[in-house]
Amino acid sequence: MAGRLAGKVAIITGAGSGIGRASAKLFAAEGARVMCADIDTANVEETARLIGPAAIAATVDVAKAADIERMVTQTVAAFGQLDILYANAGIGEATNAIDMTLEQWERMIAINLTSVWLSAKYTLPHMIAAGGGSIINQSSTAGLIGIPDLPHYSSAKSGVIGLTRQIAAEYGPKNIRCNAICPSSIPTPLVSRVWEQRALEAGNTSTLAEQQAVVAARHPMRRIGTLADCANLALFLASDESGWISGVAVPLDGALTAT
Ligand SMILES: NC(=O)c1ccc[n+]([C@@H]2O[C@H](COP(=O)([O-])OP(=O)(O)OC[C@H]3O[C@@H](n4cnc5c(N)ncnc54)[C@H](O)[C@@H]3O)[C@@H](O)[C@H]2O)c1
Repeated sequence: MAGRLAGKVAIITGAGSGIGRASAKLFAAEGARVMCADIDTANVEETARLIGPAAIAATVDVAKAADIERMVTQTVAAFGQLDILYANAGIGEATNAIDMTLEQWERMIAINLTSVWLSAKYTLPHMIAAGGGSIINQSSTAGLIGIPDLPHYSSAKSGVIGLTRQIAAEYGPKNIRCNAICPSSIPTPLVSRVWEQRALEAGNTSTLAEQQAVVAARHPMRRIGTLADCANLALFLASDESGWISGVAVPLDGALTAT
């Protein structure tokens, strides 16, 4: 199949919803075979069904090393190679540094940061053996600037940027690139949950659409992002078109962090 990812094999975590599902569909449309991984079995199987024979699905809890090792083994067994990893799975939660419990902190770090390292840990040997690859890690504008209500989330997403640069530096000589995507707000279940929690805590009765309008107005481009905005950037970073781009954290935010 022709396309910008023709002949490549990709793993996408968090592929059962939002950005992960949109990216899985786009990668497959551009010729990749895709392992769709997610903790939500029904949703991730639906993603693979929507794509067709170019996709397989696996139930994976990215907080568990054994699950990630199995995800990688299954991918290579099914497709014979592994060229692209999009470590995208994540959770969001609004809290603050005083009220946050140690359990909340540890869960967030496990799912949004440790998982990114574990995904690289089991993927890198295959990429090294194959002579190269592209790793894309999902960070956030919250990893670049301080945003109220997200102490553990911001810490995890900043950590993702540090790990991204480290992997790029260490495995560049093996022709492996590693980049991070830092989106601002894109309407998905994760973001809706955070906005709802914030509104609840503030005693704010505004609707989701009203909250979205307020967030959009904070961006110089006066809109929030779309699933396609993020999937298109992931596609570019996955493809050979970005062949000399490595170790960067790309803001995807309509100039929010430029102001
Ligand atoms: N939507 C945004 O505005 C935005 C902004 C910045 C960063 N992000 C990041 O983008 C990524 C995708 O989020 P989204 O907005 O598409 O949200 P989403 O809720 O639509 O999708 C997240 C997916 O991750 C899966 N997931 C959660 N915990 C998991 C676990 N332990 N193991 C495996 N899968 C798990 C969920 O089941 C879900 O399918 C996340 O890392 C998020 O932090 C999103």
